Amino acid sequence: MMDHAYGYGLVSRFFHWAMALLALYQVFTATLHYFLDDTAITDFFFSWHFSNGVLLLCLAVLRGAWGLINLSRRPAHDQGIHRLVAVGHVVMYALLIAIPTIALVRAYGSEHAFSPFGIDLFAARDAKIEWMTNFGNEWHGFFGWILFALIAGHIVMAFVHSYVWKQPMIARMTRGHEQP
Ligand code: HEM
Repeated sequence: MMDHAYGYGLVSRFFHWAMALLALYQVFTATLHYFLDDTAITDFFFSWHFSNGVLLLCLAVLRGAWGLINLSRRPAHDQGIHRLVAVGHVVMYALLIAIPTIALVRAYGSEHAFSPFGIDLFAARDAKIEWMTNFGNEWHGFFGWILFALIAGHIVMAFVHSYVWKQPMIARMTRGHEQP
């Protein structure tokens, strides 16, 4: 269950792969929104972008808490260039919390009701709160694309470690340990 010096336990692995799938859906729907806005295909898939994003936020908070509980047991990132890797991971956590939170601020300030997974979170209002909707319009997509770029770099480096430098790092998150 718990993490250890050579890999990650079941809970961390569940969070990692569940969130990877949900993030993939966000990449897919954001790309549709960017290139094919106002089409039936985008309307269909983008309608789940909202609930999916809220679920990602909940998982990011739980995963962050679980990461802190396991901090002293996890594979170390405390020397030289590894410190930079740790900073990169923290930035990804921070964006996974900030991006949906910014969208929620915009949803709260908009005229429309907001009900992720059918749960009534915000009621409709007569007039929108301008600063909230402007804030969301300005930053949500911007930080979203930065997160996707970081995730792409994260995936590339995992493969470089495992197959070019022969340090079986991916196994830490699949089998849960690096040993053959
Ligand atoms: C981690 C979770 C999320 C990620 C990574 C993400 C990512 C993105 C990205 C990159 C775009 C830009 C698409 C474009 O440039 O056309 C976007 C658009 C949008 N997202 Fe999200 N999103 C997330 C969660 C949410 C949530 C929770 C909501 C609703 C509360 C939401 C509502 C929207 C809306 C309305 C748009 C279209 C307007 C805009 O571009 O800002 N997103 N999202």
